[in-house]
Amino acid sequence: MTVGIYFATTTGKTEDIAERLHGLLDSAEGPKDISDVDDLSELAGHDGVICGIPTWNTGADSERSGTAWDSILEDIGELDLSGKKVAIFGLGDSSTYTENYCDAMEELHRYFQQAGASMVGYTAKTDYTFDESKSVVGEEFCGLPLDEDSESDMTDERLSGWAEKLKGEMF
Ligand SMILES: Cc1cc2nc3c(=O)[nH]c(=O)nc-3n(C[C@H](O)[C@H](O)[C@H](O)COP(=O)(O)O)c2cc1C
Repeated sequence: MTVGIYFATTTGKTEDIAERLHGLLDSAEGPKDISDVDDLSELAGHDGVICGIPTWNTGADSERSGTAWDSILEDIGELDLSGKKVAIFGLGDSSTYTENYCDAMEELHRYFQQAGASMVGYTAKTDYTFDESKSVVGEEFCGLPLDEDSESDMTDERLSGWAEKLKGEMF
């Protein structure tokens, strides 16, 4: 089976995390910038897909990332990803943007769900300090939120714990 790691970034932090995740999941392919993907059917060629997305469009209802993900959301929703597993990680700042922490994850999650993907890699919100996040779906985050601005000292533990979880849920 193959798993691909894809990301978009504005200042490089999501790319850095994608590379660190690849170091923990060395059988995964990538990481690859989603803006370098010419044909989105490439995603359907994998058994599993891991996507990294930062939040920049603070408070927006739509196009919350401010990256290349925003312009392909609807195209993702039209893919047939039934039988595929998809996990999302998000970059944000839980201190400065505590009302909108990692909001963009939920938008990507929703379009992948629309494509029929089986979503994995949810994270309990108990170890996070924030006021609001659109990415809390039910009682959990719909992916892994990471904060390289205010809580970078927690990233190693969060990322390695998530990688272990994905080994069980996706690989
Ligand atoms: C203008 C601006 C707006 C931002 N808006 C949000 C936000 O609404 N929610 C959030 O969690 N983080 C927000 N952030 C923090 C970024 O998501 C964070 O710095 C992230 O690590 C950037 O990832 P990148 O380097 O991959 O682009 C914002 C940062 C800036 C500078």
